[in-house]
Amino acid sequence: MRWSERQLAMLKEMGVAAFWPAQPAPVPEVPAARSEPAEAHALAAEAIAQVGRSAPAAPRPPARVVPPPAAPSTSGTTPAAPDVVLGPRPVGVDTMDWPALREAVSGCQACGLCQSRRQTVFGTGNEQARWMIVGEAPGEQEDRQGEPFVGRAGQLLDRMLAAIDLTRSEAGPERQVFIANVLKCRPPANRNPLPQEVAQCEPFLLRQMALVQPDLIVAMGRFAVQSLLKTTEPIGKLRGRVHEVAGVPVVVTYHPAYLLRNPADKGLVWDDLCLAREVQARRRQGA
Ligand code: URA
Repeated sequence: MRWSERQLAMLKEMGVAAFWPAQPAPVPEVPAARSEPAEAHALAAEAIAQVGRSAPAAPRPPARVVPPPAAPSTSGTTPAAPDVVLGPRPVGVDTMDWPALREAVSGCQACGLCQSRRQTVFGTGNEQARWMIVGEAPGEQEDRQGEPFVGRAGQLLDRMLAAIDLTRSEAGPERQVFIANVLKCRPPANRNPLPQEVAQCEPFLLRQMALVQPDLIVAMGRFAVQSLLKTTEPIGKLRGRVHEVAGVPVVVTYHPAYLLRNPADKGLVWDDLCLAREVQARRRQGA
């Protein structure tokens, strides 16, 4: 693949033309024999395939209150507020189809964020996307518009996606990504998500991943990365290799909002996106 004029313009606009190669590095040949990671991914793919993209939706069980789980292992990244309000968490999320999941998210009252949100932000994009992007939580603009990544960081994300020929807009599953956040509601004043909020919201993201069945997930920013991977390690230590969640390869990188503050690190993010593309190509060859 050669960069199109449009993509080159995107690279320039992102301010990374100086870091990013004029032409993408070729995807390395993958030996026919399965490498260990490929094996793991194949097994993982089988596991996630059991979920079945077209599996009939299981009927929703009657609503009942699930006791809130213990704080996830991301605790420690954010001090727990003493007055965290937790409500009932929808049950049966792990068997919901898209309409049921959307309905469950929009009516969710599992944490105190339901009291301050304007609306929930479910996610956007192709329900059969090959790439899934996971961010942190809606900000003010997202809370107003009901769509993830529509503020300044989102505009940069769009340019980053365009640079690798992906888009959030209408396109087939090959080019159109699915974008979702760890939290579906905006934390007041864009404060950091609390571990309890992440834990309450987590089943929604896991179900989105299971329904989309992407080739890979790109996790952006500390909260997305740490809550998906159940770690407290910083991104700097986690990037550059392939992780796995629920059978799906995960590539981690910095959040676009971080890049707006630290533009010199755009080159690192470009490396991460190249790695993601490589992972997808390898997965396809191994399939
Ligand atoms: N930052 C995120 O992580 N997600 C959004 O939707 C907006 C900003």
